[in-house]
Amino acid sequence: MGNSVVDQSFWFVRIVETKAQVRARLRRWQDAGEKVTLVPTMGALHKAHTDLVRLAKRSGRAAVSIFVNPTQFAPGEDFERYPRDLEADAGLLRKGGADLLFAPAAEEVYPRGLEDLTRVEVPGLSGDLCGAYRPTHFAAVTSVVARLLLITLPDAVIFGRKDYQQLLILRRMVEDLHIPVEVIEGPITREGDGLAMSSRNRYLSAEERHIAPTLNQVLLECAERLRNGDRNFARLERDAMTFLERKSFVPDYVAVRRAGDLGPPPSSGPCEWVILAAAWLGSARLIDNVTCSP
Ligand code: PAF
Repeated sequence: MGNSVVDQSFWFVRIVETKAQVRARLRRWQDAGEKVTLVPTMGALHKAHTDLVRLAKRSGRAAVSIFVNPTQFAPGEDFERYPRDLEADAGLLRKGGADLLFAPAAEEVYPRGLEDLTRVEVPGLSGDLCGAYRPTHFAAVTSVVARLLLITLPDAVIFGRKDYQQLLILRRMVEDLHIPVEVIEGPITREGDGLAMSSRNRYLSAEERHIAPTLNQVLLECAERLRNGDRNFARLERDAMTFLERKSFVPDYVAVRRAGDLGPPPSSGPCEWVILAAAWLGSARLIDNVTCSP
C-alpha cells in the first residue's frame, strides 16, 4: 500500500500506515477530550484480540497496531510462517468496534534498518522463564513496544494476561522509563475447552488441538493442590511436567511463582501465586498461566 492510505472504507476499518498519520488521528481524538487506548498486536487476530478492543472501547477510542515484529523472532522461529492476513484482521476489527488500525511497514518502525538498533531492555525478568528459552525475545518486545508507544502516544495501552511474563516486563518498562501511559491488563480469552486463544493455535493438527487443553487442565490441577495446602513447589512442577510429557507435549517449563513479580513463592504465609507453563505440542509453542491464592 502507498503512503496516502488514510480512509480506505473497503478495508472496513480506518487503516493508517505512517507515524504522521497515526499521530494526527490520535491527537485529533485526544484534543477532543477522548481517551485513546492502543492494543498492540502482531495480527492473525481472533476473539481474544477483539475482547481487548472491547475493553479499550469502554473508556473511549481503540487503536490497534498490527506489526509482525521481525526482531522478536530468533533465527529458526516462525517469523516467515507467522500468519498474515490484513484484510481478514481489518474485517474482524471493524466487527469488534476498533476505531483505527495502524499497520506500519518495518521501515516506519525501524527507519535505520535492523542493525545496531537502540534497545530497551528490562534485565532480570527478561532472562527468566520464557526468556531462558528465547534469550533475545523480551528485549526485542520491549524495544518494539517502546517504539510503538512513542510513535502513537496513546493515553493507555492494553496487554493481555496470557503473556503474563510479557505483561509484567512491559509494565516495568513503562514505569522505569516514566512513559506517560496507563497500562491496562487484558483477561485471558479461552476456547470452550479451556485452551487459551492464540494466533499460534492454528499450527496445531486436529489431533494436537484435541490434546492442547491439557495444558490448562494441568495448571488448574496445580492451583487446586496449592489451594489445598501443598507447598512442595518443585514436586508440583515436576508432576505437571511429567503429565504433559505423557500427553506428548514437550514442556519448556512449568513454574510456580509469586504473581506480583515472578519471584520464588514463600513456603508459608499469604501469597498470590501464578503457575506458568510453556510447552511444545507439535510445531506450536503454547503458553498459559493460572493465578490463585490460598
Ligand atoms: O504480544 C504480542 O503480540 C507482541 O509481543 C507485541 C506486544 C505486539 C509486541 O510485538
